[in-house]
Formats: sequence, structure tokens, C-alpha cells
Amino acid sequence: MDAEFWKQRWENNETGFHLDEVNPLLPRFWSQLHIPENSQVFVPLCGKSLDLLWLREQGHEVCGVELSPLALQQFFSEQGWVPEIHRSGAFEIWETKGIRLFCGDFFDLTSELLGQPSVVYDRASMIALPPVMRSDYARHLQSLAPAFAPRLLVTLDYEQAQMEGPPFAVSEAEVQALYSPVFQIEKIFAEDILAENERFRLKGLTRLEESVYLLNPTG
Ligand SMILES: C[S@@+](CC[C@H](N)C(=O)[O-])C[C@H]1O[C@@H](n2cnc3c(N)ncnc32)[C@H](O)[C@@H]1O
Repeated sequence: MDAEFWKQRWENNETGFHLDEVNPLLPRFWSQLHIPENSQVFVPLCGKSLDLLWLREQGHEVCGVELSPLALQQFFSEQGWVPEIHRSGAFEIWETKGIRLFCGDFFDLTSELLGQPSVVYDRASMIALPPVMRSDYARHLQSLAPAFAPRLLVTLDYEQAQMEGPPFAVSEAEVQALYSPVFQIEKIFAEDILAENERFRLKGLTRLEESVYLLNPTG
């Protein structure tokens, strides 16, 4: 999946992954991370998710990275906010009201730019990337987030042979393979959401599992 693919998705308004509400799984499971207020939360591949707002409302500093300038433009304008925009390295940084979003490629982000997030919230990032890119994604995320930072991961699994991604299927075995032994991984929720997702049933899926994982550093 190259940058152009995703930018085009935003240009064409093909953003079926975007929710018009806060993802209900976030408030439901966030407290299990035991994160103090004022924590810096990193949201990779953030789109224009309203989850950014919810995290900010909890008293956290929120930072995210997103390829599409259109996504960031829509995020801020839909709140009626005018962000300050400045350039740093390969990124434009859009910032206001405790939310700082890096416009550019996640794989170009450095910890010098990002700072030291104390927690990572990852919803629908891994499923945006094909299998060959996911180990690079996991490795790069590991270089950006300090070893002590726990994570909440919301992802999807289905029979990959039944449909081409994105969204791609991410199995529990893959989550284990990518993140252990650095993290203790606990699957805290799983539900088949195919009945509410007609478009995936029409594409031939027979199961679409949404899962939530809690990743706690072992070190
Ligand atoms: C499936 S969407 C999920 C968005 C968001 N996390 C949400 O829950 O609504 C994946 C997003 O990642 C962005 N994206 C894809 N590859 C990226 C990359 N390499 N760097 C930054 N953003 C990327 C896409 O533009 C898209 O907005």
C-alpha cells in the first residue's frame, strides 16, 4: 500500500473505516491500561478519528501521524478549530488544543520529532498494511515508543483468502509473533461484527472478528 493509494482514498471519500462516533471499545477498555492523566498518547495512522478527541478529553496529550493532509484538514475543520501548522523535517505538524498531528509517512517519523509517548492507541493501523509491511510497522513503532509504553490494539481478523485487503486480516498468532516477548499480550475482547457490516458479507466474508488486545511491556 503506497502513500498515493491512501491519499486517493481520502480524495475519493472512500473512508468506510472512519466512525462518526468515538469507537465504543476505547472508553470501554481504556481504563485497563491504568494510565495517569497528562500521559502522552500516540495514535499511529490516525485518520480523522474522533478517538483523538476522546483521548484529549481524558486529560492526555495526543499526537498522531497521518499521510493524508485532507484527513487532518477535515479533522480540525469539523471541530471548528484552526490549527497552527509548521514544518519539521519530512512533516507538516498540525497542532491545537493539546492535539498534535504529524502529516506524513509513519515510516519517516523519528523519536526526536515525536517525543516520548507513554502509551500507544492503535485502531485499524495494522489492518491498513499488507502482511509484508506489518513487521516493519511493528519494528518502527517499537523504535518510536519507549519500552515502558503499554498499548491498546483494536484490530480485525477474518479468512484472508475470502477477500483482498485493506482491511487486511490480523490474527492473534500474528499479534503474538510481532509483539512478544517484548509485551505480555492479552486478548480482552473479541466479537463477530459481520452482521453489522453488510459490505463485507457481500464481499464473501463468513466471519469478521473485531478484537481488542492489551499489550503490557514485560521489561
Ligand atoms: C484504516 S484507516 C484507520 C484510521 C484511524 N486509525 C481510524 O481508526 O479511523 C488507516 C489510515 O492510515 C493512513 N495511512 C496509511 N499508511 C500510512 C503511513 N505509512 N503513514 C501515515 N498514515 C498512513 C491512511 O491514510 C488512513 O487514514
